[in-house]
Amino acid sequence: MRIDKFLSQLKYVSRHDVPRFLNDHVVTYKNERIFSQRIQVEPNVAPIYLDGDPIFYKETIYLKLYKPKGYLSANTDPRHPCAVDLIKAPYDRFDLAIAGRLDIDSEGLLILSNHGSMIHQIISPRSHLPKVYEATLDRPFQNEQKLLDGVTILDGKNEPYLAKALEIHSKDDLTIITIDEGKFHQVKRMFHAVGYTVLNLKRIQIGKLSLGSLNPGEYEEFTLEDLF
Ligand code: URA
Repeated sequence: MRIDKFLSQLKYVSRHDVPRFLNDHVVTYKNERIFSQRIQVEPNVAPIYLDGDPIFYKETIYLKLYKPKGYLSANTDPRHPCAVDLIKAPYDRFDLAIAGRLDIDSEGLLILSNHGSMIHQIISPRSHLPKVYEATLDRPFQNEQKLLDGVTILDGKNEPYLAKALEIHSKDDLTIITIDEGKFHQVKRMFHAVGYTVLNLKRIQIGKLSLGSLNPGEYEEFTLEDLF
């Protein structure tokens, strides 16, 4: 790709201002200083240096984030802190999107990536990726079979929808439920349909990818082999 595309994609400078940037900064590739915005670089082959430091670059980035409660699953919002605000250098230079939201009062595993078609695949109902949630309910749960058989809830468009749990069991005070869909407020609405209120909801796994030892607000890279 051209150096002007590379630098502007990573938000160092607008494409228009690249000539000035190359004058004001020492940008080198394969030990040669770049002066022209038309120079072709292959950042996967050799690093590009900016004022002596290598520029972090990957074509595709996959991050798993522990979204804390109180954060919106969004890139920007005028009123609430957003999950994407938690992502710092060097990943904050990439256009990250969220694959599968969590409610503002839910916490746990959120996947972020700059790979649009992969995000599509992760959230597509056709992928049937299982998602595992730990729910704290208002009282001990005793309706496993009803959720395995399926309950009718309203989806995001207020249309009735038959939602089924793939697995459900209780462990101490937590009820662990697995679903492979992602309708609006699905887990809360499924428990509500059988008379329970979800007090806390934490997503602990998507596909093979688990939250692991991340603490709220922490994130790390993963590979697609960790997920599928
Ligand atoms: N189901 C919900 O009700 N809320 C979430 O955040 C995720 C799944």
